[in-house]
Amino acid sequence: MTVLEPSALAHVPFVSVANMMRLVNDVGVEAVITELADYIEADFRRWPEFDKIARVASHSHDGVIELMPVADAEYYGFKYVNGHPKNTREGFQTVTAFGVFASVGNGYPLLFTEMTLLTALRTAATSALVGRYLAPPNAKTMAMIGNGAQCEFQALAFRALCGIENVRLYDIDPDATEKATANLKTAGLNVTACQTAEAAVEGAQIITTCTADKQYATILNDNMVGAGIHINAIGGDCPGKTELHKDILTRSEIFVEYPPQTRIEGEIQQLEEDHPVTELWQVMTGDTAGRTDETQITLFDSVGFAIEDFSALRYLLDKTKGTDYAEMLDLLADPDDPRDLYGMLQRAGAGAPA
Ligand SMILES: NC(=O)c1ccc[n+]([C@@H]2O[C@H](COP(=O)([O-])OP(=O)(O)OC[C@H]3O[C@@H](n4cnc5c(N)ncnc54)[C@H](O)[C@@H]3O)[C@@H](O)[C@H]2O)c1
Repeated sequence: MTVLEPSALAHVPFVSVANMMRLVNDVGVEAVITELADYIEADFRRWPEFDKIARVASHSHDGVIELMPVADAEYYGFKYVNGHPKNTREGFQTVTAFGVFASVGNGYPLLFTEMTLLTALRTAATSALVGRYLAPPNAKTMAMIGNGAQCEFQALAFRALCGIENVRLYDIDPDATEKATANLKTAGLNVTACQTAEAAVEGAQIITTCTADKQYATILNDNMVGAGIHINAIGGDCPGKTELHKDILTRSEIFVEYPPQTRIEGEIQQLEEDHPVTELWQVMTGDTAGRTDETQITLFDSVGFAIEDFSALRYLLDKTKGTDYAEMLDLLADPDDPRDLYGMLQRAGAGAPA
C-alpha cells in the first residue's frame, strides 16, 4: 500500500525530550528559568482574563493522574501529569508529563510537547518568582528537604532569581542527597549535605520542602521554623498528602495560586475552609501586600496551577517558532474536503492521493 504524504495542516510542531534538552542546554538552565518566570509573572498579572478550573484528578491507591486545562481568549493549554510517590523504588519517575497548546479560534493544536522537564523548570521558576516577592531580602541560604527530581531545578531557580548562594540538603535517602550534592556543586553552589531535616534548616532564610510521600507527612515541625522564614512548600499537592505541621500554618501568612484547587490539595487542607489566604496574582499586580515585615513567616503553599503550564507552553511556542527544536508530527487527519474524512480513509486504502 502506498504511504501518502500528510498535508501541511496535518502537521503539529512537537518538542521531544531530546529537543527540549538541547534547547535548555543551549540557552542555559538558569536563563530558561528566568525567561519562564517572566512569562509566568506576565500571565499572573492578567489572572482575571483566564477561564480557570481546579485540575481534574483521578486518584488511585498508588498515585494520581491529573489533567490541567486553562484558556485565555486566544490560546487553550492542558497538561497531563502523574504523581506516584512509590514509582522511584521501581525505576519509574514520580512525576511525568506532556502537554498541548492550541488555538481557541479553530481548536487546532499549535504545539505538542514533553513536559516532564518543562514541569520541573516551570515549578522552579514559579517558586523562585514567588520567593522574589516573599522571601526575606538578601536571603543567601536555602534548605532543600527532598532531593529528588525537582531539587536541582529549585536550587538553581533560587540562585537565578533570588540570589541564593548556599543550599543545605536533606533527604531520607542519602543516595538522593549525594546525587543532588554532586549536581549542585558542579553548578557552582555551596552545598552542605545534612543528616537531619533539623540540621538542614539551620541558618536558612528560605526552606523548600519537596518530598514525595502519599500521606500526611510532617517534614517540618513547628519548632523548626523561626521568625522571618519563607517556606516554599512544593510536595503537599494532593488530598491526604501534606508536608507541614498544622501549627506552622496558623503562624504563617499563607499565599496560594488558585484557592479552589489549593483548598483541596495544599497544606491548607488541614485548616478550616475559610482560613484566610492571599492570592499570589494580587501580590504580583500590587493590589495586595507580600511580605510586610522581617519577622513574618511567609508560606507559599504550592500545588502547581494550570496557568503556570500555560505560560510554559506559551514560552515554548515563542522559543521554538522557526527553529529545529520542534519537529513536525503527523497528528491531525486533514482531508482535502474537510467533511470527507471517510473518503480520505478510502482513498488512502486505494493508494490514491487524499
Ligand atoms: N507544587 C508543584 O507545582 C509541584 C510540581 C512538581 C512536583 N511536585 C511535587 O513535588 C514532590 C517532589 O517531586 P519529585 O519529582 O522531586 O519527586 P522524587 O520522587 O524524585 O523526589 C522526592 C524525594 O523526597 C524524598 N523524601 C520522601 N519522604 C521524605 C521525608 N520524610 N524526608 C525527606 N525526604 C523525603 C525521597 O527520598 C525522594 O528523594 C512530589 O510530591 C511532587 O508531587 C509539586
